[in-house]
Amino acid sequence: MSDPFALDGASVLVTGGTRGLGAAISLRLARAGATVVANYARNDEAAQALVAQAKAQGLALEVLRADLTLAKGLALVSERMNQAGSDTVSIVHCAATGVHRPFEQLTAKHLDWTMALNARAFFELVQALLPKLGDGSAVVAMSSAGAVRAVPAYTAVGASKGALEAMARHLAAELAPRGIRVNVLSPGSVETHAWDTFPDREQRLAEALRRSPLGRLVSVDEVACAAQFLCSAASRGVVGHTLVVDGGARIVE
Ligand SMILES: NC(=O)c1ccc[n+]([C@@H]2O[C@H](COP(=O)([O-])OP(=O)(O)OC[C@H]3O[C@@H](n4cnc5c(N)ncnc54)[C@H](OP(=O)(O)O)[C@@H]3O)[C@@H](O)[C@H]2O)c1
Repeated sequence: MSDPFALDGASVLVTGGTRGLGAAISLRLARAGATVVANYARNDEAAQALVAQAKAQGLALEVLRADLTLAKGLALVSERMNQAGSDTVSIVHCAATGVHRPFEQLTAKHLDWTMALNARAFFELVQALLPKLGDGSAVVAMSSAGAVRAVPAYTAVGASKGALEAMARHLAAELAPRGIRVNVLSPGSVETHAWDTFPDREQRLAEALRRSPLGRLVSVDEVACAAQFLCSAASRGVVGHTLVVDGGARIVE
């Protein structure tokens, strides 16, 4: 009997796939047998470090620099994925950005900037790649607690993640009859460079640690394992679900 967690023969686009959680997901999926295209926007150094790591492990992983908030970036990624030889094409939308400010200091421009990548690019990507998606394809949208909880200075990102989750549920219902499964993966606080954009990084991480029933923060690989599950046949009955990987932080006061 074949391994339901294996991804042999799949091509997976991991947006924001070269750093932090995205890099761990790219490596985990490639180790499971997928051919991975790890997209990024600017940081060539991180992308090349990932390529070296994948090469050392003999993994099928390439990187693709393309800003997904721009039409030309979306076109580049679509063109690359349209060349994918495999039958099964999947997408993990990990790329995210955001302006972390209290509501009073946020502008509509900040909101647009945040929405453009976190929610709109997901919409455009899935639509552009729809002809390549089919029975067995998985689409995973990376969300965060801010979609459902009020987090300080997180209005813009929280709103974008809420939109992303709602969109994912609608796509899940519409695309399931074609065998395309759409789900949401919502990690708790995981130590990545994304936290550097918060001026009170240390206090936030300490608070996340204090709240964690697990007694520690979850790791990038624990989130990556959940992404593998959602991309694989092991989750073939799971549609339109939000899988929370946070060590229990969201269930406690
Ligand atoms: N870390 C956490 O605690 C946490 C918790 C909950 C949810 N999440 C979610 O998990 C995902 C990954 O988070 P992370 O902490 O790993 O983030 P990260 O370390 O900041 O990595 C972000 C990635 O997105 C890419 N990116 C940024 N702007 C882009 C654009 N316009 N087009 C294409 N790619 C772009 C970056 O490329 P460059 O390297 O070129 O900049 C990078 O690869 C996000 O969706 C985040 O909201 C994270």
